[in-house]
Amino acid sequence: MEVQEGGARIIVDEVFYNPRMRFCRDLDMLVFAALDSKEYFDALSASGVRGIRAALEAGKVAVFNDINPKAVKVIEENLRRNGLSGEVINGDAAAVMRQRSFEHVDVDPFGSPAPFMDSACFSARKYLSITATDTAALCGSATNSGLKKYGAFAVKTDVYHEVGLRMLIGFAVREATKYEKALFPLISWAREHYYRVHFKVRRSTSMSASIYGKVGYLAYCSACLRKKVLSFGEGAERCKCGEKFKVLGPIWLGELKDRGFVEKVVEMAEGKLKEFLNKILIESDVPTAYSLPVLAKIHSLTLPPAESVVEELKKLGYEASRTHYCGFCIKTDADRDEVVRLLEKYSSESSRD
Ligand SMILES: C[S@@+](CC[C@H](N)C(=O)[O-])C[C@H]1O[C@@H](n2cnc3c(N)ncnc32)[C@H](O)[C@@H]1O
Ligand SMILES: [Zn+2]
Repeated sequence: MEVQEGGARIIVDEVFYNPRMRFCRDLDMLVFAALDSKEYFDALSASGVRGIRAALEAGKVAVFNDINPKAVKVIEENLRRNGLSGEVINGDAAAVMRQRSFEHVDVDPFGSPAPFMDSACFSARKYLSITATDTAALCGSATNSGLKKYGAFAVKTDVYHEVGLRMLIGFAVREATKYEKALFPLISWAREHYYRVHFKVRRSTSMSASIYGKVGYLAYCSACLRKKVLSFGEGAERCKCGEKFKVLGPIWLGELKDRGFVEKVVEMAEGKLKEFLNKILIESDVPTAYSLPVLAKIHSLTLPPAESVVEELKKLGYEASRTHYCGFCIKTDADRDEVVRLLEKYSSESSRD
């Protein structure tokens, strides 16, 4: 069967191809076009659709790899169909990345990128892109899987995608520092069943040490949803409500994007892609997020529109924004008590009219 996706026509017989990931690949092509790189290594190619589109739509020189010999045949056929030529390797991605370095490495596996992360960090010179579909392990719904794959602890919170995305980024950042590399997220998102992160890679002894200033923990109270950022070595006292904090992490505490980079990508986008990118662009980078319905329920309060809570918090001088991954969640550096006060105000005002 032949499918048309973006600028490519590809056959997908006997290889993995998920049409639901088209939005992700469409967005990737804009990201790739904004990168200052030529070589692109599609480490887990399947049909080769990502690498082929990267060549056709973003002018990259793609190198393909898949462990499945059937995939190699399909990729070769797909290259021919699109008038392209390119190197196609039939190897274990981890072994290939140990032996060769690439300007830009893309790891798009089934489930978790964890088994490929060490070699991907070893190999990537300038950019690293990763996908994770094992969101349960990352966001705290499968705590033991998170510990086993990512060496990080989480429980399911009211804003599980914030925690999940940050656990993934934190893991990648930690995997890179042993090679004296620092990873900086250019753009990242949580959508449907997956997380996607595009990193800039810098080889630097000092940066790979100072990056730990942006890795740490999140103290979380499951009774009142209070969240507090903790750096390495810092302890968590009891929550103000009297409950004990659960300490989640290590996770990434830094920016989820490079604002200047996302602005560049937004300029190239149209329609739904632009809408989505704008949500990412306006989002605050603080790690403390709250689900308004969950918070309102704890106190039996009326749920206000997220936008009005954000505006009120900003008026009070706090950093605040909506989130790209949840329509009724907000991010703010204000304490949860401040957010609850706004919910109380809204509840009493709306019961009056
Ligand atoms: C999720 S699919 C890739 C999808 C593809 N990137 C796309 O956008 O359609 C994962 C692919 O990884 C391949 N694979 C699994 N383990 C591998 C390994 N250790 N080395 C290389 N390829 C592997 C599988 O054969 C499969 O084709
Ligand atoms: Zn509490």
